[in-house]
Amino acid sequence: MTNRPIIALDFPSKAEVATFLTQFPADESLFVKIGMELFYEEGPDVVRWLKSLGHDVFLDLKLHDIPNTVEMAMRRLAGLGVDLTCVHAAGGVQMMEAAINGLKAGTPEGKKRPLLLAITQLTSTSEEQMHADQLISVSLEESVIHYAQCAAKAGLDGVVSSAWEVAQIKAATHPEFVSLTPGIRPAGSQVGDQKRVVTPGKAREIGSNFIVVGRPITQSATPYEAYQQIKNEWNGEPND
Ligand code: C5P
Repeated sequence: MTNRPIIALDFPSKAEVATFLTQFPADESLFVKIGMELFYEEGPDVVRWLKSLGHDVFLDLKLHDIPNTVEMAMRRLAGLGVDLTCVHAAGGVQMMEAAINGLKAGTPEGKKRPLLLAITQLTSTSEEQMHADQLISVSLEESVIHYAQCAAKAGLDGVVSSAWEVAQIKAATHPEFVSLTPGIRPAGSQVGDQKRVVTPGKAREIGSNFIVVGRPITQSATPYEAYQQIKNEWNGEPND
C-alpha cells in the first residue's frame, strides 16, 4: 500500500482549507493534520467535514492535563473519528495510559482505535532551555529516549520525533514503535524556520513510519504536483 505524506493544514480557517483543497482531485483521499490554530477557530466540525470528504485526520492538540481529564477528552476525540492524535509524554505514564483507555472507550463499535503518539521534547526546546526551565539535568537526547520509553510502557503506538532520532528510539523501545517525523523538505526546497530537515527519501531510509509536510505543499504554486513528488520520493518511486 502506498504511504501518504501527512499534509499539515496550517491555515486559520475552514474557508482557506477549502480553497487549498480545490487544487487536489476531489476523489483523492489525503491524510491531513489539523493543528490548534484551525481547531480552535473552527471546532470539531472541521474534523467531521474533512472526514466526510474521505480524508484521514491527525488531530494535533498535544494534550497534557490530569489523567481523568485527558481520558475524557480522548473519548470525545475517538468519537469524532480522528485517525491519529497525540499527548505530551511529560504528562506522565499514568496520563498516557488514561489517554489510551479514553480512546478505546470512545471508539465506536466496529471502528479502529485512533493511533496515539507522544510528544517527547518539543524540537523548539534546546538542551540549555530544558536544563534551565524543566530542571532536567540529563542530555536532551536522554530525555527524548526516556520519554519514548515511558510512552511505550504506557502502551502508546509511538512518538513524534525528528527523523534523526528514529533509529535510537526504535532501538530503545521496539521495532514496531511508530515514528512520525516533521521537518521534511524535498531536495532544493525552502527550509524556512526548520533546522534539522531531511528529504522524504532519507526519512524512509531512516525508518520513519509517517512524515508530516506543511509548507513545501501548502505554499507551493502547484500543491498537487508538490504532494505527488513528495509522495513518490517517500515511497521510493521515481518522479518523472
Ligand atoms: O511547514 P512545515 O513542513 O515545516 O510544517 C511542519 C508541521 O509539523 C507544522 O504543523 C509544525 O507545527 C509541525 N511540527 C514540527 N516540528 C515538530 C512538531 C510538529 O514542525 N517537532
